[in-house]
Amino acid sequence: HRFLVLNGPNLNLLGVRQPEVYGHTTLSDVEAMCLAHAEKIGVSVRFEQSNHEGVLIDAIHAARGTLHGLILNAGAYTHTSVALMDAISSAEIPTIELHLSNTHAREEFRHKSYISRVAVGIICGFGARGYTLAMDAMKGHLDDLGA
Ligand code: DQA
Repeated sequence: HRFLVLNGPNLNLLGVRQPEVYGHTTLSDVEAMCLAHAEKIGVSVRFEQSNHEGVLIDAIHAARGTLHGLILNAGAYTHTSVALMDAISSAEIPTIELHLSNTHAREEFRHKSYISRVAVGIICGFGARGYTLAMDAMKGHLDDLGA
C-alpha cells in the first residue's frame, strides 16, 4: 500500500507555532516518524505540506489512481474548503481526516469540517501520535477492503 500524508496551511510551523496547542514536535520530526512507521508496518508513504489550497488539490488529484490511502491534516482549510472536499470525492481514495488538537474542544468555528463528509474516519486530539494511528487505521481499513 502507498499512502500520501498531506498537511495544509501553517503546519510547516509545527513545533514553533502555539506549542501549548500543537506540541513541540516539528513537521520534519513527524515526517521521520511516519517514514519509520511505514517501514515497520510494511507500507510506503509520501509526505507533503503546502500552505496553498490549489497545491493541496493538485496533490490529491495526482494521488488518484496511484496511491491507496490519503491521510489529510487540512489545517484551517478543514473548516472552509468545499474545493478540498470535492477534490477528495473526485480522487476516490479512502481518506482519513487528521488533527493534532481536539478540534471539538476548541472554538465553535473548528467544529465544522467539510473533510468529515468525505472521510472514512477522523483522528483528532492525540498530537503527533495521530499520524501513526492514522497509518495503522488506514492499513486496517484497506486490508478489510481486500484492497
Ligand atoms: C489543526 C486544527 C485546525 O483547526 C487548525 O486550523 C490547524 C491545525 C490540527 O491539526 O489540530 O491549522 O488541523
